[in-house]
Amino acid sequence: MDNSKRILCIVGTRPEGIKMAPLIKALKREPWARVTVLATAQHRGLLDQVLSLFDIQPDVDLDIMRPNQALPELTARLITALDEKFVELAPDVVLAQGDTTTVMTTALVAFYRRIPFGHVEAGLRTHDLDNPFPEEMNRLVAGHLARWHFVPTEHSRQNLLREGIADTAIHVTGNTVIDALLEVAAAEWPLGIPLDPSKRLILVTAHRRENFGEPFRAICRAIRQLVDRYEDTEVLYPVHPNPNVQATAHELLGGHPRIRLCEPLDYAPFVEAQKRAYLILTDSGGVQEEAPALGKPVLVLRTETERPEAVDEGVVRLVGTDQASIVAEASRLLDSDSAYSDMARGVSPYGDGLAAQRIVAVLRNALDTKKAET
Ligand code: UD1
Ligand code: UDP
Repeated sequence: MDNSKRILCIVGTRPEGIKMAPLIKALKREPWARVTVLATAQHRGLLDQVLSLFDIQPDVDLDIMRPNQALPELTARLITALDEKFVELAPDVVLAQGDTTTVMTTALVAFYRRIPFGHVEAGLRTHDLDNPFPEEMNRLVAGHLARWHFVPTEHSRQNLLREGIADTAIHVTGNTVIDALLEVAAAEWPLGIPLDPSKRLILVTAHRRENFGEPFRAICRAIRQLVDRYEDTEVLYPVHPNPNVQATAHELLGGHPRIRLCEPLDYAPFVEAQKRAYLILTDSGGVQEEAPALGKPVLVLRTETERPEAVDEGVVRLVGTDQASIVAEASRLLDSDSAYSDMARGVSPYGDGLAAQRIVAVLRNALDTKKAET
């Protein structure tokens, strides 16, 4: 009797590619797992970049992305395309990571088709449906439809317990982003961008939908004010391809001699940029997890975070999107060595590099895989 299991791994956007890569690789080493990788390609270029770095070739590519896609049409196209493939592939298990539209629709279609769904990076919450938008809703949906909840921390486990999720379905594994980070950060990578070594590097990323418009304009004004105030600083800002971000970033930050706007960096050079950074300003989820592990202070350009662990450790601070607050907090770190070293401590509350192994062990035990292994 063949007890091998068909495991369908879904990836849609850049962070899903990064965070699913260690798990896909670990599953492919298991004799009982017949792994299929499905790329929705909710992101096109950004996803392709990370999959090629980790040497993952999708078996199925839905090529979903459209320029400036709206959430309802993205959702509708994903549901239709995923359903067709789930019926055709008939997987025993579907796995997806995080809180994008790809993940929410994966969970929903798996539920409709009665396919067990494993949620990687489960249990993150702000308890505010508008922040981040629409991700808080996406993870609530995914979280309530999952058979297995792979949570990064005890805090995320507690979030799920409070929502009535059974303790036996929750597994504290750490976040697979740290598996990916440690693998990539072990080597030195060419950045491909000439930086001035005499300047302190401020690394910036921003892409959140709830920040579009005035909040994002205020973030850009703050960056310009900071770099003008501190002549020994240089800003590197790989601009997210979302047209709502591109237009404003170039309008408000373009043409400054010490602000480098560039295309999104491949993951390895971006990790290198984090290693070289003095300070990081971001509204990204993944960067909030990676930068503390690299010992870099992070100011989060949001009013709330679903990742409070590093804030509680004192190595990440929430500064919101108010221009004066961003400038004040960044100035504190640029002016005071002791304020800086308090935040530059190198702690990793989100993982130890072994998350993928733990997830595989849970699946191996939960699925009847014995015969396939002998
Ligand atoms: C999405 C996720 C967000 C995640 C982010 C990671 C949703 C609703 N949002 O936001 O949770 O934090 O990815 O980066 O799932 N684009 C390109 N090339 C790319 C990628 C994007 O041109 O490789 C442009 C396209 O015009 C696209 C637009 O960006 O329509 C928006 O992409 P989308 O995935 O809808 O939203 P993000 O803002 O990237
Ligand atoms: N990242 C990258 N290149 C960049 C900017 C970010 O590879 O130019 C990586 C970053 O290291 C992190 C991930 O992309 O692992 C975060 O993705 P993003 O900020 O787009 O999404 P979020 O984490 O907010 O969902």
